[in-house]
Amino acid sequence: MHLNETFERLDQDLRALLSAQAGTKRIKITDLTPRDGQQCKLATRVSTDDLLPLCAALDNCGFYAVEVWGGASFDACLRYLKEDPWERLRRIKEVMPNTKLQMLLRGQHILAYRPYADRTVRKFVEKAVKNGITVFRVFEATNDFRNVEVAAKAVKEFGGEAHVEVNYTISPVHTLEKWMESAEQVLEIGADWLSLKDATGILMPFDAYRIIKGMKDRAKDKLPVLLHNHDMGGASSMCHMMALLAGVDMIDTVLSPLSFGSSHPATETMIAALKDTPFDTGIDLKLLEEPTRLTREIAEKYSEYATKYAGVNAEVLKHKMPGGMISNMVAQLKEAGRMDLMEAALKESPNVEKDLGYPPLLTPTSQIVGSQAVFNVLMGERYQIITQEVMDYVAGNYGRPPGPVSKELVTKILGDKSPDYSARAGDLADPEDWERAVKELGPLAKSDEDILLGVLYPMQAKDFLTLREKGELRPQPD
Ligand code: CO
Repeated sequence: MHLNETFERLDQDLRALLSAQAGTKRIKITDLTPRDGQQCKLATRVSTDDLLPLCAALDNCGFYAVEVWGGASFDACLRYLKEDPWERLRRIKEVMPNTKLQMLLRGQHILAYRPYADRTVRKFVEKAVKNGITVFRVFEATNDFRNVEVAAKAVKEFGGEAHVEVNYTISPVHTLEKWMESAEQVLEIGADWLSLKDATGILMPFDAYRIIKGMKDRAKDKLPVLLHNHDMGGASSMCHMMALLAGVDMIDTVLSPLSFGSSHPATETMIAALKDTPFDTGIDLKLLEEPTRLTREIAEKYSEYATKYAGVNAEVLKHKMPGGMISNMVAQLKEAGRMDLMEAALKESPNVEKDLGYPPLLTPTSQIVGSQAVFNVLMGERYQIITQEVMDYVAGNYGRPPGPVSKELVTKILGDKSPDYSARAGDLADPEDWERAVKELGPLAKSDEDILLGVLYPMQAKDFLTLREKGELRPQPD
């Protein structure tokens, strides 16, 4: 869509809004504070005991859903908090009987970094629904929807809602046509919602308008469209406004004490901004006073985990690296005693991203690209060390790369062979991953939920379940 066309469409949209028939379109809001919000701003360190009062207070506000669970919740629970992530979910559901609970699901990779067998994916979804999740935001970092299909279909089969995400990035291969192709694929899967997701904050307002408009044109009345966009580039609430004009049905927000920057536009701000307009959310701001107060208390209590890279940083428009991964890169360089290379590593990231065919940068591709960039600058020679994850990516374990992978890199990894992306990642998974975990955990595993911990986090699960067996679960320092 060229600029002229964009403005013509925008003109039509504004006229329609002014017309008497327009009425009010209730915009839905999903609040992400207990998962994405605390992950972006507090490294997911908030304990379940501290989350519960907030969750209870969020239950009667009128949100479409509240996000409470994801890969980082599992990681932080097992590694630092020594809490059972399944128990966390059950306790949250208990205090939120009126609200749909939402989780983030990495398609065939479930919550981790490698693909799993189809029946393991289905088992995970079944147990997540049983323990309290209704809404699954399902994605594959490279937008290879073959890796979303099994998970999305399982979600529907077990009674959940499949919100399938298209991951946004900016690259020579990601044209408006390509976004529309992705949207068509999501429609074909039979998703319940189509989501445009910008995991960092590089989406700009007029692009938000064009892509959401195109998605709405294609989705028609088959399914609603939502926007999930972070704010590192500082343009997130402008994107919300343009997406609303383009007809978006839902936006994602975080309560103000943990909002903006690496996180999302503030829930209270968006509700106030839309009040008494054709986009009124119907949510009473008064109801948010208590959740906001509790979120502020949490932010203060856990301020030691507030990351340095959580604010607006327009550098992201160049390197596209999400805040969480920037912190990881800092940690890797600190460990090597070479913090002086941080700027060089961020400069190297776009080169690695290009070599890998421009994957959108979010977990796990942000880690794959960021860590390789760190090695490239540390060694002083590009790809002298190639991480296992880059090798797996080039071999197709993370789905089909959006653009061509660099020939030199392919030769370094595969020799004369060329990569074959005809197989779905699920077919490359270990078909015995479930049995392996059963054997590894032995009597430590008391339920399917325990076995799933073992499948997803073999080392951490064993440590965790051993401590549980001994009655020695206590929060751990770093
Ligand atoms: Co997010």
